[in-house]
Amino acid sequence: KSRKRKLLFEVNEKAAARYFDFLKNNEKGAEAARKYLQNRGIEDRIVEKFRIGYAPPVEAAGWNFLGSTFSQEQTRAAVETGLLVDNKKGGTYDRFRDRIVFPIFNIAGQVCGFGGRIVGEGQPKYLNSPESAVFNKSNLLLGLFQQKESIRRHNRAILVEGNFDLVSLVAKGCENVVAPLGTAVTREQLRLIKRFAEEATLLFDGDEAGGKAAARAVPLFLAEQLAGKVALLPGGHDPDTYIREFGLAELSRILGEAKDLPEFVLGRLVEQFGLGLDGKRRIVEELVPLVEAAPSPLQRSVFLSHFAQELGMAVEQLEQFMAAPRD
Ligand code: CTP
Ligand code: MN
Ligand code: MN
Ligand code: MN
Ligand code: MN
Repeated sequence: KSRKRKLLFEVNEKAAARYFDFLKNNEKGAEAARKYLQNRGIEDRIVEKFRIGYAPPVEAAGWNFLGSTFSQEQTRAAVETGLLVDNKKGGTYDRFRDRIVFPIFNIAGQVCGFGGRIVGEGQPKYLNSPESAVFNKSNLLLGLFQQKESIRRHNRAILVEGNFDLVSLVAKGCENVVAPLGTAVTREQLRLIKRFAEEATLLFDGDEAGGKAAARAVPLFLAEQLAGKVALLPGGHDPDTYIREFGLAELSRILGEAKDLPEFVLGRLVEQFGLGLDGKRRIVEELVPLVEAAPSPLQRSVFLSHFAQELGMAVEQLEQFMAAPRD
């Protein structure tokens, strides 16, 4: 079993090396990809730091760019990690084609899988490795291997949604960043962060999906007893577009104004339901699971008094409501 894992890591490592080499050294075949990265502000230093590579298009390298250098045993392993796809005729072809590829490392620096972005327009925009014996998205964070020392120094991790949010922020000097892999934040990911920092700030896209994702993460922070904040970007921006338009100082200001989790959640609920009588009732209903997720009686009473004050209710009243059986 461990021999098998070793083999999967080995083919991932070899693929990362070949994608990286192609991006760096293939004069013609990778020209558009290098240009694309340059236009997005990703300089060589960042490409090297994250070992960003390029999976060539069929026109440049055929359908078997990776497979051509694998042994039979490695080919089988590469099918298992999803780098190669079985063509049902006894052969294989490359899963990643014409994509900028980001190797996804575990803390030990082993390549577990890849995330690939199409160069320019095309569908799907992002393609990730399928789950395998070495790739479980829910317990990996993109960038953690590279940025963990910075996260430790700041005693804080900044969580962004995507690949380019991560590398763009690091390129501009905001270093203590990681990204979950296009999925909801998980408890395992928060546990990983806790190994390096006591606090995390969610810095998701300034759209409805980003707000929802942040709100969904709140109970997990409480359960893991990780201190959290939420920073809000103006509508339509993500961290990458924001820092490139307004710079590091402006982003730091936004991060400095990040809200505490209960404040963030309540703010969203007030926006959604209003502070009329019926609105308050709905808000209190929505707050129940949050208060229940509080890991200690102290935390629970801190929440209750905060919410009561903000809603103009007596703490006892709120408590009573929360204790009442619901259907
Ligand atoms: N993602 C994914 N699969 C998708 C869409 C998104 O894995 N089909 C992940 C990617 O890691 C992506 C992140 O979710 O970076 C955020 O998604 P989104 O905001 O839609 O990406 P964009 O900011 O639009 O991507 P880009 O900046 O590269 O255009
Ligand atoms: Mn710093
Ligand atoms: Mn988005
Ligand atoms: Mn983006
Ligand atoms: Mn985005």
